[in-house]
Amino acid sequence: MKINSNFLNLHESYLFVKIEAMAAECQKNHPERRLIKLSIGDVTRPLAPTVVKAMKKAVEELASEETFHGYAPDKFCYGYDFLLEAIGRHYQKIFLSAGVKEQIETEEIFVSDGAKSDLGSLLDLFSKDNTVLLPDPVYPAYFDANVMDGRKIVFVSASEENGFLPLPSAKTQGELIYLCSPNNPTGAVYSREQLKTWVDFARARGAVILFDAAYEAFVKGEKPRSIFEIEGARECAIEICSFSKTAGFTGVRCGYTVVPKELRREGVSLNALFRRRQTTKFNGASYIAQRGAAAALSEQGARETALCRAYYENNAKIIMAGLKNLGFWFTGGENSPYIWGKCPKGFTSMSFFRCLLEEAGVITTPGCGFGQGGEGYFRLTSFAKTADTIEAVERLKALF
Ligand code: MLT
Repeated sequence: MKINSNFLNLHESYLFVKIEAMAAECQKNHPERRLIKLSIGDVTRPLAPTVVKAMKKAVEELASEETFHGYAPDKFCYGYDFLLEAIGRHYQKIFLSAGVKEQIETEEIFVSDGAKSDLGSLLDLFSKDNTVLLPDPVYPAYFDANVMDGRKIVFVSASEENGFLPLPSAKTQGELIYLCSPNNPTGAVYSREQLKTWVDFARARGAVILFDAAYEAFVKGEKPRSIFEIEGARECAIEICSFSKTAGFTGVRCGYTVVPKELRREGVSLNALFRRRQTTKFNGASYIAQRGAAAALSEQGARETALCRAYYENNAKIIMAGLKNLGFWFTGGENSPYIWGKCPKGFTSMSFFRCLLEEAGVITTPGCGFGQGGEGYFRLTSFAKTADTIEAVERLKALF
C-alpha cells in the first residue's frame, strides 16, 4: 500500500492550526495573560433572531413523526427547494442592482456545508495534469488542496504595485485559476473591467476560474459581488459562496456553489460532473442549517445580518484608525473584514507576529502564511468583539 505522498509536500500544519498552536504555547508560558484573537476570520456575533427562530422550528419538525426529514432530496444534490429559491432570489437582487440581465437556475446551485469543502470537492472535476494559477498571497486552502492532488502550481503576484489585484498577461499560465474578491487576505476588490479581463483570458484559453465570493456581502458601492455579473463568465467560471461570514455560520456550516450549465470542457458539462461527484461523495448540509440559511436570505434575515456586518465594519474602522494613528501602512477593511498591514521596518512577518503575540498578547496572522508575496505584511480581522478590538488597538499603541 502506498500513501498519497503529495501530503509530504505540505507544511506540517494548516496555517490557522499552526497559529492556534503558537498562541496556545504562549498562553501556557503566560497563563496570567488574556490573549486577544485577531487571527482567523471567525465570527463572534450571535446568529440573527430570524435565523434562530427558523432553526428552532426545523428542530421541532425533526422531533415529530409527521414533519420529520431524513436525507434531503437528491434531485438538486440535497439542496432543499426553499433554500435554492432563496439563493436564486439573492442572485436576482445582486444582478438587478448591477443592472445585469442574468439569472441563476435552481439546477446550477449546489448547497454544501461551506465554501472550504466545496473548494476541495470541485478539484475532483479537474485532471491532475492541469496547471493551477494562484495569486500570491492567497488563502492557503487553495494551495494546500492542490498540493494534496499533486498539481503544478504557478503564481501571479498580488502586490502593492497592482493594488493586490493581479491581471493576466500574455505570459500567464494555468488552466485552473483561483480568484477571490473581496480578497482574503488583502481585502482588495476587483472592478468589473478587471474581472472582464480575467473572464476573457479564461475563455480564450479554455481555462476555468474558481471564483471565491465568500466575502461578497461586504462589498459596498459599485464593485461586482458575483463573477456572473460579467459577460461570458457563465462559460468559464464557477462561483463558491458561504453563509459563514455573511450570516455568522462558521459554526452552523452552510454554503453553496454555482456551476453554470454553459460551462463545458472537452464537450462535458461540469455541472453534470459536479452533480455526479456530489451525489456519490456528499450527503448534503443538514435540514436545520438549510432552514437557517434560507431565513438569513429572507427580507427580515437580510436586515438582521446587515446589522451584524455593520458591527464588524465598525471594528474595521477602529483597527484602521488605530493603525493610521500609529503610522502603519495598510489596505483593505473597506469592503472586507480583513485589514492587510505592512510590518514596521526591521520585522519579518513572523518576527512581527511573535512580537505582537508575546509583547501585546494579540494574535494576528503573519502575511507569509499566505505565501511568499505576503512576507513583510500582517493580517488583522474585524470579526472579534468590539471591546477586544478596542483593547487590541490600545495594546498596539502602548507597544509602539
Ligand atoms: C480566514 O481567516 O482566512 C478564514 O476564516 C478561513 C476560512 O474561512 O476557512
